[in-house]
This record gives sequence, C-alpha cells and structure tokens, in this order.
Amino acid sequence: MIRHFLRDDDVTPAEQSEILDLAAALKQDRFAARPLEGPQTVAVIFDKSSTRTRVSFHVGISELGGSPLIFTTASSQLGGKETPSDTARVLERMVSAVVWRTYAQSGLEQMADGARVPIVNGLSDDFHPCQLLADLLTIREHKGDTKGRKLVFVGDGLSNMGHSYLLAGAVAGMHVAVVSPEGYLPRQNVVDDATKIAAETGGSIAVGTSIEELAVDADVMVTDTWVSMGLEAERQERIEAFEGYRVTTDVMKLGKPDAIFMHCLPADRGFEVDADVIDGPQSVIWDEAENRLHAQKALLAWLLAKSRNEPVALRG
Ligand code: CP
Ligand code: NVA
Repeated sequence: MIRHFLRDDDVTPAEQSEILDLAAALKQDRFAARPLEGPQTVAVIFDKSSTRTRVSFHVGISELGGSPLIFTTASSQLGGKETPSDTARVLERMVSAVVWRTYAQSGLEQMADGARVPIVNGLSDDFHPCQLLADLLTIREHKGDTKGRKLVFVGDGLSNMGHSYLLAGAVAGMHVAVVSPEGYLPRQNVVDDATKIAAETGGSIAVGTSIEELAVDADVMVTDTWVSMGLEAERQERIEAFEGYRVTTDVMKLGKPDAIFMHCLPADRGFEVDADVIDGPQSVIWDEAENRLHAQKALLAWLLAKSRNEPVALRG
C-alpha cells in the first residue's frame, strides 16, 4: 500500500517513533540510507515561498542518493490548466515521490487519491507535518523524550502550526496546550481528533485564551508568525488581535526553568516573540531548523520502504 504524509496523524504513534529513530540515526551518519540511488527523482513543488523546506528537501534527496526536481506551481500547469489528480497521473510515471507546498489541504488529498508514489505535505493552510517531525526530534534531543512533556503553543491556533502541534503532539504522547485569542482558536474537528489520539497515547489536549492558565509548567514553549503565507492582507487586523499573545521573558517564566523555546521560522521579532527570547539561552531554533533535513530524509526513506513493502535499509 502506498503511504502518504498529508497530516501529522497519517502515522501511528509507533510509526512516528520509528521515523524519529531513523532521523536520529541519519543525523549520526548522513549517508547511511540510499533508497533513491540511481538516481531516482523526487519532485518538490511550491505554491508559496520557502527557504528551509526547499533547501532541506533538495539536500536530503541528494543525500539519499536521489535527484531533486524543484519547481513552482506558477511555472508549471498545476493550479492553472491542470488538476492535482492529472498532475499526479503524470508525475507518478517519472518520479519516486512528490512533495507539495500549497494552500488548500483538499488539493493534496486530490493529488494523493490513487497516486502510485508517496505524496508529502510540505505545508498547507491546515497542517505542516514535516516541520513537526523536526520539532519532535529536537524535543527528544533536548528533553530526552516527547512522552509526558508539556508543549504550549502561543499564537494563531487556526494556523497550520497550531493544528500540527495538536495532532503530532498527541501522537507523540505529549500534553499540548494551544493558547490563542478569541476567533483564532484551532478548528474544533482538529481538537477532537487530537483529543481522541491523546486518550490512547497518554497525552492530553487543552485549548483556551488564557496564557497565565495554560502556559504553566511548559517544557516546550512555541509560537509562529501571526501572519501566515496567504493572509498578508489581514496583517494589521492580526497585529491588533494578537497583542498580548507574544512570547516574552515573562511568558517563558510561566514554564519550567529549563523550558526550551521553539519557532518554525521565519520569525517576526517584536511581534509573536521578543528578541531576548528567540535569541536567548532557552531558544533551540537553529537545532530545530537543521532537524528539518534529518527528519525529512527519514520520512522519505520510511515512506518509500513502506510503500515498496521493504524494510528501511541502513548501512553498517
Ligand atoms: N519552517 C519552514 O517551513 O520554513 P520555510 O518556509 O523557509 O520552508
Ligand atoms: N504558519 C506559517 C509557517 C511558515 C513556515 C505560514 O504558513 O506562513
């Protein structure tokens, strides 16, 4: 069966853990897995800007022995003359996997429907699951484990990052709290899905508007831009709505003394986070950014192995 990765809960807790173990192994030995030797090609398509996702997939596909084919939707027929399904029918005959950064989650679902190669969500309006694999790897490195740790997301709960923390954190057995102003709380169906998963993994989910109540005892404090890609026209209204939902040194003090600060980047210093937090001693943002590479290599190697019904082959 072809495995896709469109949302954080497209993998079970055991599978997520297996991918993170593989990511840690590939971080130790960058060239240990070569599933794309040939080279086989992986297409990486962008409807939105990117630095980390673009570079980490390019480098990662090369390190897996493959050849990255990176292009924008605007320079292709996708999004204009051609549907995601027809695009998939063409690509699957030539490439070994497709990564797509887009707007609507439904486009990714259409691309994955019946596709004969793995389709990976490189960020949509709803979820950013590749980022979360990198974040969980970073939490494992700094906190030893994800299970039982408390993660607090302060900011736009309706965003891809807000939703992905809920789902991926629940799969990882974490206690996840999302704190947002009224009108920007996460979608109820995502909260419900995360709550069901957390009940099975020993985690928990809390959502609300009070930082003072929800950020207490955080092991991991996270935020993200107040103005996600595609929402630029709402910038002023969002800056006003999110005032009071900034991660400051006082907010960090609500968490545990050894809490870490994370941000998927790019960051708007002085808006969602103060410079003395993001550039301070508790911040692990550069490890988090590097881990995109190791986590996505593990993800691709794992999706290809599962889809080909083979074990993940590692040298040594
Ligand atoms: N965090 C993240 O996805 O960064 P890019 O937009 O630079 O890819
Ligand atoms: N929520 C942000 C994440 C950027 C990586 C956005 O969608 O723009």
